[in-house]
Amino acid sequence: MTPPPNAADPTTADRRAAHEAALFELLRIPSVSADSRHKADVERAADWVQSRLGGMGLAVDRLPTPGAPILYAESPPVAGAPVALVYGHYDVQPPDPLDEWQSPPFEPTVRDGNVYARGATDDKGQMLTHVLGVETLLASGGPLPLQVKFLIEGEEEVGSEHLEAAVARHKDRLACDVVVVSDSSQFAPGVPAVTYGLRGIAYYELLVEGPKQDLHSGTFGGGVTNPANVLAKLLAALVDDSGRIRVPGFYDDVRPLSERERDEFSRLPFDEARFKKQLGVEGLSGEEGYSTLERRWARPTCDINGLWSGYQGEGAKTVLPARAGAKVSFRLVPDQDPKKVTAGLRELLDPLVPPGARLTIKPHHGAPGVVFPLDSPYMEAAASAIEQGFGARPVFIREGGSIPIVNTFARELRADVLLLGWGLDDDNTHSPNEKFNLGDFHRGVQASAALWASLAKGESGQGKGE
Ligand code: BES
Ligand code: ZN
Repeated sequence: MTPPPNAADPTTADRRAAHEAALFELLRIPSVSADSRHKADVERAADWVQSRLGGMGLAVDRLPTPGAPILYAESPPVAGAPVALVYGHYDVQPPDPLDEWQSPPFEPTVRDGNVYARGATDDKGQMLTHVLGVETLLASGGPLPLQVKFLIEGEEEVGSEHLEAAVARHKDRLACDVVVVSDSSQFAPGVPAVTYGLRGIAYYELLVEGPKQDLHSGTFGGGVTNPANVLAKLLAALVDDSGRIRVPGFYDDVRPLSERERDEFSRLPFDEARFKKQLGVEGLSGEEGYSTLERRWARPTCDINGLWSGYQGEGAKTVLPARAGAKVSFRLVPDQDPKKVTAGLRELLDPLVPPGARLTIKPHHGAPGVVFPLDSPYMEAAASAIEQGFGARPVFIREGGSIPIVNTFARELRADVLLLGWGLDDDNTHSPNEKFNLGDFHRGVQASAALWASLAKGESGQGKGE
């Protein structure tokens, strides 16, 4: 492990080099939570984070779970000051498709001021900014102006299955006034943001099974139900031509966008032409009557994430496949309930399955969407810290991704949640060539170091849960 820069007064360049070395070490560990072949790597990433937190003098605890370990650390309490809890994750998404990476996903490589690696921005790089922000303050003589607690998990990318129970079990230890999460994005380069809303998710695997084995499509086609044809019909039934989801009851609980919010979104400097260029598309589509930002941040959606059946090899093979499968997710907004979506999905799809085919719907993770009030006393502290780190006032945005546990924090810990993202929309998270801008990495460390003082000054109080 690279030691923290603990010379009495390391130069900025020395400190930056040490911080980058730390980030690259963590990025070299392929902690892919979705893939059981990487279980030992997930443990190694937990070891790394644990020893970094311990090395800066914090009391660290490793909470084992049936999945990946959860790390908990805390600095000493500070009387009269609020308590902050930093949440982040050390697990990453699978790197596939591997052949589309310009440099290997677990060999961090710097190009044009960005580090390229799986997890660079999501969330190893962003999570580390807080570890290093606190470490820098402690190394320069501390003490911290408020108590900081860290809760770093290794199953976020697979739905945070075991964290929910851990938060409930350790509610007293985790008591805090404000939760800080850096696992989202700035609005644009040079336009930092505070995110006050995230979408939720309901994720399913669909399996259609037909004959006991693949058949000749000439001999049997037309007379025997084809599971791939059935799956195509089911998937086509999910969304209508105006982009509305056809699951019964799906929109019943959707919290509508207020005119005020729509107006605020429309004032953001969103450049649709640049957005299309970035993605390599000539046009955009979605639910009728909503702008691109509204569709991405505040309206529910349905996406096929994966699709398989039949012959995938070169050339044409005439075959009637025995099975077909799809992975389908719905992004949800407040106040939709993922369980209700499951019931509605069955109600929509079950009657569409013809004789000779069986449909199995397997729910994976689910989490509701969130919108946090903007009038938190800690909001201004966050804006001021961002200004100190990034040199610009943040804008207030919602985003379309999901961080399942943030609901639980608001509910169980009754804490305000600050989503302070240092990433960018073109960081290729979950895609090949994920990157994180190293300038933003260092600015994130500075913003973090500034945040603790701002939060401590902003309001004094005790952990509400204590
Ligand atoms: N960092 C993302 C969440 C995110 C993405 C927030 C974009 C804001 C903007 C997080 O690591 C993530 O990808 N979460 C998953 C959760 C899912 C697996 C339950 C997601 O959103 O797909
Ligand atoms: Zn993440």
